[in-house]
This record gives sequence, structure tokens and C-alpha cells, in this order.
Amino acid sequence: MGISNTFHFAWLEETIKPIRAEIRESLPKKPLVLGIGENEPSQFLIHLLDGMDYKYQACDLFPLNDKVVVCDINDLSPLFGKVRADVVCILRSSMFIKNKHSFFLQLKKLLAPNAYLFMDLLIGSSTLPVLDFRYADRRSLYAHDPDRPEYFQSSFFDDRLLQEFRAEVDAFCQHARRWPLETQIKYLRRSPKFFFRDAYSLRGLTPENLGDSLHEYLPEQSIFSLKDIRDAGFEILGFGSRYFYPYVKKFSLYNFIAARYRAGN
Ligand SMILES: C[S@@+](CC[C@H](N)C(=O)[O-])C[C@H]1O[C@@H](n2cnc3c(N)ncnc32)[C@H](O)[C@@H]1O
Repeated sequence: MGISNTFHFAWLEETIKPIRAEIRESLPKKPLVLGIGENEPSQFLIHLLDGMDYKYQACDLFPLNDKVVVCDINDLSPLFGKVRADVVCILRSSMFIKNKHSFFLQLKKLLAPNAYLFMDLLIGSSTLPVLDFRYADRRSLYAHDPDRPEYFQSSFFDDRLLQEFRAEVDAFCQHARRWPLETQIKYLRRSPKFFFRDAYSLRGLTPENLGDSLHEYLPEQSIFSLKDIRDAGFEILGFGSRYFYPYVKKFSLYNFIAARYRAGN
């Protein structure tokens, strides 16, 4: 993910900074960290737990080594009874979640009391500022194995976005209303048939109607909010949103949540 990594992880560290010391102090000795949709500890985790002793378990549908548990984010049962995590990281893989309700029911079976959850969720794909994760007639996907493409499914919206990160949401909506010229030319060349349908399809999009618009494109089960996370028994500790286009020319509006599991104590 090249240059995106630099900006992404710097932003996560910035968001977590005010609570980093508190998190480190409150963790049990040698906490168990579960990484979902990853093969190794991320830079975020390495920085968060720098100098601390911890156990780490990764799970991923496309494992890159034999220490990783083979597991679909939509079916966490291979981990049941084996993992009681003190920290769970779900970075740049939440878009594969098909149903937030069944996801939380399963996730909760894997958590120790007071476990921390660090999760990012995106609006729009990296290739286009659209709400339904499409590029012409193709859905955004992860194609590690061409025979088993994993499609983007889930997105995010919460009113706090508008209250606290207005400039980021504005920048995303502005691009959704009118794609940058470079993007228009690229799309026109690659998918002329869809250009007039798509290039201006979100021309009425504003921060105020972003939530409703997302619900027109995606089913309720695929749109996370902070309320969903609270309803699942978590306390929200940190929240951030960032539009990285000016740095990496990718259109996703990223949302990051740091939360602590308060139910199940
Ligand atoms: C964009 S990469 C992110 C990797 C890592 N979390 C990071 O932030 O650097 C997406 C990851 O999700 C994994 N993945 C794709 N579909 C998945 C699924 N349905 N269940 C679990 N993992 C999946 C991919 O194999 C890949 O490791």
C-alpha cells in the first residue's frame, strides 16, 4: 500500500495520541492482540505497544504464513474458544464485513473484559468517490486470489462526522459531486458507456445528505455508525476522520474508532 501506509499510520497515531498512555497502562500483563484481516502486526500496533510484551494472533482469509489463522471476517468461528483478545485491530479490512449485526455478535465471543477495539471504516473506494464501491460495472474488490475476489461491502456514517470533521467530509463530497478532471478523463477512456451515468450521479451530494445517500446505495446492515459500536457494548474513546486524497490521490474518506468493550465484565 506504499505511500498510503505512511499517511494512514501517521493519522492513526495522531488520533490515538491523547489516550495512548492510558491504554498502555490499563492493559493486562502480556496482552493478547488479535489482528483481523491482516498477516502481521501493523505499524499502528507496533507503535502503540512499543516496548511492551504481548502475544499476537493474526487471522486473514488469504494467509501469507502458517501462523495466521485462516478466517473470513464474516465467519470468525475458527477463533471461538481459542482467542480471548485484550486488543483487536481491524485496519483496512472492515469493508469486507457483510453484516454488522452478525459481525458484532461473533466479535464479542472473542473479547476479554475491557478489551480495546481499533477499527477503521471507509466511505468511497480508493479509485472513485462513489458511495456504492463501484467503478463502472465492477464492484471494488480485493483480488489476492483471482478465483475468490472479495468485494467491498461496508461503509460508515455518523453525525459526529459533520460536527467534528466538516472539512474532511466537505472535501470528499466536493469530489463526489464533481470528479477531478484527471479522474473524469481516465474514466471516460476506460468506461465511456458509464461516464454520463456516473460522473455526475452524486452532483447533489452534501455533508448534510451524505448519511441518507449512503442508505440509498447500501443496505442498513452494511453501514456502521458510532451508535452501532456503542450498542454492541463498547465505549468510544477516540474517533477521527481523514480524507487522504490531497496526499495519496485516493478517494476513500477514512474513519477510525478506538473503543473499549464495557459489556461482559
Ligand atoms: C487492504 S489489506 C489490509 C491489510 C492490513 N490490515 C493493513 O492495514 O495493512 C486487506 C486485508 O484483508 C484481507 N481480507 C480480504 N477479504 C477478507 C475477508 N473476507 N476476511 C478476512 N480477511 C480478508 C486481505 O487478505 C488483506 O490482508
